[in-house]
Amino acid sequence: MKLKGLVLSGGEGTRLRPITHTSAKQLVPVANKPILFYGLEALAEAGIREVGIIVGDTEPEIRKAVGDGSAWGLNVTYIRQEAPLGLAHAVITAESFLEDTPFVMYLGDNLIKEGITEFVEEFRRKDVDALILLSRVAEPQRFGVAELEGNRVVRLVEKPKVPPSDLALVGAYMFRPVIFEAAKSIKPSWRNELEITDAIQYLIDHGYRVEAHTISGWWKDTGRLEDLLEANRMVLEDLVPDCRGTIDDSTRMDGRVVVEEGAEVVESVID
Ligand code: G1P
Repeated sequence: MKLKGLVLSGGEGTRLRPITHTSAKQLVPVANKPILFYGLEALAEAGIREVGIIVGDTEPEIRKAVGDGSAWGLNVTYIRQEAPLGLAHAVITAESFLEDTPFVMYLGDNLIKEGITEFVEEFRRKDVDALILLSRVAEPQRFGVAELEGNRVVRLVEKPKVPPSDLALVGAYMFRPVIFEAAKSIKPSWRNELEITDAIQYLIDHGYRVEAHTISGWWKDTGRLEDLLEANRMVLEDLVPDCRGTIDDSTRMDGRVVVEEGAEVVESVID
């Protein structure tokens, strides 16, 4: 099955200031690498080649960082969303790029440790209209929350005050083109956005098959400063220390540090 990718990279990092010089929150580095690049790697690893990136006011920065996508073996098309009117609005904006090809939608500020390959493979195997990705979380009220019967999704609620479960929607979704009809049929939410959660609920209500894939590894939506710092710690936990550069005698290094070939560290403490 041919699949396209849709990466959402609009929105500004206002809540993350002043830790960044960039205004695109997706370009904030986690362990020295922009968050967005982890997502692009995950798409490439899952066998996706044609990727549309939804951009807003920070379009020039995103374009400069990602280019034509060839660094990841991707073919990137930029799609301008005139205003941040929600994830389902972004899907509508991308319709002429996606056409009638099923696709994976990936939120550019999400970090998913295990990537999305298994998730994408499950969609390729199954005859479902949408496959959502879930993770058990401590504060489900901060996310979209799912209620399941077996693998089947029976209800979704966006940021519920009283969550029906602890299964949060992770920022990666698989859709067939019927999602366009759903996105065009829903009304804006209390935050004046066309919510993808409501569009998926529309599919459920109209008899379409929506299933869920639950991940066990860590996942972070890096919208808040504390989440970003935790994401950084989690990525660094998997880092294998490696020193191929030169370090002088007065330098002290502790913990997981990688010194690349050609790098020279003098009179420093790296922790
Ligand atoms: C969005 C979705 C929400 C999902 C979250 C994952 O929330 O609306 O359902 O759980 O992404 O990152 P937002 O970041 O727009 O508040």
